[in-house]
Amino acid sequence: MMREKIERANQFIKENKGMINNVYRQSYHLMAPVGWINDPNGFVYYKGEYHLFYQYYPYDSVWGPMHWGHAKSKDLIHWEDLPVALAPSEEYDLDGCFSGSAIEKDGKLYLMYTGHYEREGIKREVQCIAVSEDGVHFEKIPGNPVISDQHIKGIAQIEDFRDPKIIEHRGMYYSVVASKTAEQRGQILLFQSDDLFNWRFTSILLKGKKEQGVMWECPDLFHLDGKDVLLISPIEMEKKDNSYENINSTVAFIGEVDWLTGRFNVENFHEIDFGLDFYAPQTCIDKQGRRIMVAWMQMWGRNMPTNDLGHFWAGAMTLPRELHVEKQQLIQQPINTIYTFITDKKSIIEEKLDNSSIVIENNGTKQFYIEFSGNLTLTKKLRMKIIRSNDSAIELIYEPVTEHLSISRDSFGFSITGAETDKLTKRTASVPLIDNRLVLEIFRDTSSIEIFAKGVAVMSMNFYEKGQSEPATLSVVGMLEQVEINYGLIK
Ligand code: FRU
Repeated sequence: MMREKIERANQFIKENKGMINNVYRQSYHLMAPVGWINDPNGFVYYKGEYHLFYQYYPYDSVWGPMHWGHAKSKDLIHWEDLPVALAPSEEYDLDGCFSGSAIEKDGKLYLMYTGHYEREGIKREVQCIAVSEDGVHFEKIPGNPVISDQHIKGIAQIEDFRDPKIIEHRGMYYSVVASKTAEQRGQILLFQSDDLFNWRFTSILLKGKKEQGVMWECPDLFHLDGKDVLLISPIEMEKKDNSYENINSTVAFIGEVDWLTGRFNVENFHEIDFGLDFYAPQTCIDKQGRRIMVAWMQMWGRNMPTNDLGHFWAGAMTLPRELHVEKQQLIQQPINTIYTFITDKKSIIEEKLDNSSIVIENNGTKQFYIEFSGNLTLTKKLRMKIIRSNDSAIELIYEPVTEHLSISRDSFGFSITGAETDKLTKRTASVPLIDNRLVLEIFRDTSSIEIFAKGVAVMSMNFYEKGQSEPATLSVVGMLEQVEINYGLIK
């Protein structure tokens, strides 16, 4: 049954991928060949390559019954499309193969995903396994579902029970699964297994507070730099200062898992990305022991210009990021392989810029990198128009008094809006100066920008410009000292 559905999807992709409009297609970010994508799934380093699956509806540029798309890469920058890995086909996953994860065991690749069923007023989510000998073709196991309503009686609701992430800890397999409580709060459940087929409920790993959203999605749990980290994606987390301003947010809990009780002791938590488009991150660990994270670079509930314009695709992944934990904070760095693709490098070095502007000649390219570093002791305001059109710009503003970095796409390009409660076009992050200096790395692809304020915050955002953009400019109110700007093209 599944095989036919997969063949149909692959055939459709083959026939239609040449038809899509490329104007806003990314160059070094993963997208589907055609159609809609959301969450990254099954991110794994398997037999010398990174495999990334994703929530996929090939037949339209809007969400539909979920398949798993699949791509692999050696450098996390260039991706090779592989055949669709999963398609809804059984009673337990009739309305979608929802998010999940991957793990290698005895040379085989196992996927754990959520079977979603929703019809005639009945909604049910259960956890399922599919296995592959070659990392490309998958079979659902006969014993599915492996975790279902019997496992969670009185603990969680079967209607919202999804996104299993498998991990291995001291010779045992564990799976963290998202759910919600009867009082509409997020909670993460922990299950364990010796063989990936037989699962038992272990504990409620962590329960959300009222202000932490009505449901938690896409958990991930890992040990890094001496701490345990639990990533979650809460729906409708309450805003606090500059944090959690999108309808759906992403949060890193830093602390320690007590494996005897199966509880997560939280020592700190914070939002992961301060942009407008970042959701459902997932991590993998590679051969070198690096913990790498990728997220869906979009936000639920907003219009998507590539769909509105009939371009027949929607959604992309973020640039992969290497993670660390320092002082109870999750630190993100751009994946280092990206630097090997920066060409045509140039530098601007200025001892002093006094109430003046400079132009960064990155003209005519939609894939560029800018690294900015400067001493802001005497600066009142720094304004970078990163992508400029005649009358509007993607603007980055930094004010040393508040130590706030903000990014805005207000009135730039095609408008992107959500419900009445979501008219956000700008976000702000706290970015303390380090030794009076601000250091920023900016990665622009055709329709996205990702800003890394070194070691402090990351902001990811999409935009869809109209027409050709002008070179970036930087202008200073007050004095800016010891300026160094390195820039180049990303090819
Ligand atoms: C998160 C999510 C998951 C679900 C998937 C469905 O973006 O809602 O919880 O598994 O998307 O596509």
